Amino acid sequence: MSERTRRTRSKKKAAYTARPDQGSDPKPPSAVVRKLRRLLPPKNAPKPHADSREPDGALYAYDRQKALAYADAPDVARIEAQPFLKWAGGKAQLLAQFDRFFPDHLDRYFEPFIGGGAVFFHLKARFPQMRAFLRDNNAELINAYAAVRETPNELMRRLDQHLATHLADREHYYHLVRSQHHLADPIERAARMVFLNKTCFNGLWRVNARGEFNVPIGSHKNPALYDRDNLLAASWALRGAQLAVQDFRTTLTETRGGDFVYMDPPYYPLSPTASFTSYTKEDFGPEEQRELAALFADAARRGARLMLSNSDTKSNNNRQEA
Ligand SMILES: C[S@@+](CC[C@H](N)C(=O)[O-])C[C@H]1O[C@@H](n2cnc3c(N)ncnc32)[C@H](O)[C@@H]1O
Repeated sequence: MSERTRRTRSKKKAAYTARPDQGSDPKPPSAVVRKLRRLLPPKNAPKPHADSREPDGALYAYDRQKALAYADAPDVARIEAQPFLKWAGGKAQLLAQFDRFFPDHLDRYFEPFIGGGAVFFHLKARFPQMRAFLRDNNAELINAYAAVRETPNELMRRLDQHLATHLADREHYYHLVRSQHHLADPIERAARMVFLNKTCFNGLWRVNARGEFNVPIGSHKNPALYDRDNLLAASWALRGAQLAVQDFRTTLTETRGGDFVYMDPPYYPLSPTASFTSYTKEDFGPEEQRELAALFADAARRGARLMLSNSDTKSNNNRQEA
């Protein structure tokens, strides 16, 4: 190292140790922490409009929550996790359109129909310290979320085993796993669900009247069951989230003033024959749509902030009913 480089480095180090906000820690902060500190506004800076973007495209750089939450996190925590399942009606493609409707601050977040969780993962990257209440009445789905959160490495290990056996005898192995409706071990159940979701026809989760998964095998020759970094990012994002198998009616009564609630129910069928609402053995029909509308109005009266996606059936009867 030249004398000049040595002098410059020691000057930089002295500058770090002299900063009052670093207390007695003499170590210079890492590059990531330095970057996050640059992103933080002065304490009393006015909060800019939610659409503010840094020149490098980083969103919401003025968000103190974000900078602080990420300062000590592992690298995967900085990735915006994508849904780890394919889900009918998943909203990943619509997030750019949704962005302008989301609030610019968030504390308690409710999602009564979590499905693949596209909106949750998106919002969690933007508001890392929000408290999330994630619900669905699909018990296999909520169990898979819990396994991703609590035992991601073990889950990936079991998925690797599934994939290896599947590749040796696709059809036979798929039907064998599909027939295991009553596994006791929660991680095994979660691995089964992810495996079936990624190898079945179109990633559908459809069950019969007994609640048994009944989708035929898909055509994937070499399916990717998971992406390691994404699964770890999802695991990180789910930390602290409250998960529950719960009907939307109960979830909506939990909400209170100031909460943000995103609702994405099974859609009102576009036609009587074109319906896909069988995520679980209970149907979601006109009665449920009406109850949802009433509970929406109650939550709005309590001061909750609400957003809902649904299909526009173009039918006047449906409009009056829903
Ligand atoms: C359109 S999907 C949600 C998709 C999700 N927004 C996404 O991006 O993947 C609807 C979800 O509602 C759930 N669901 C159906 N009936 C329900 C009920 N009565 N209470 C709670 N969840 C229900 C289904 O299991 C399904 O996961």
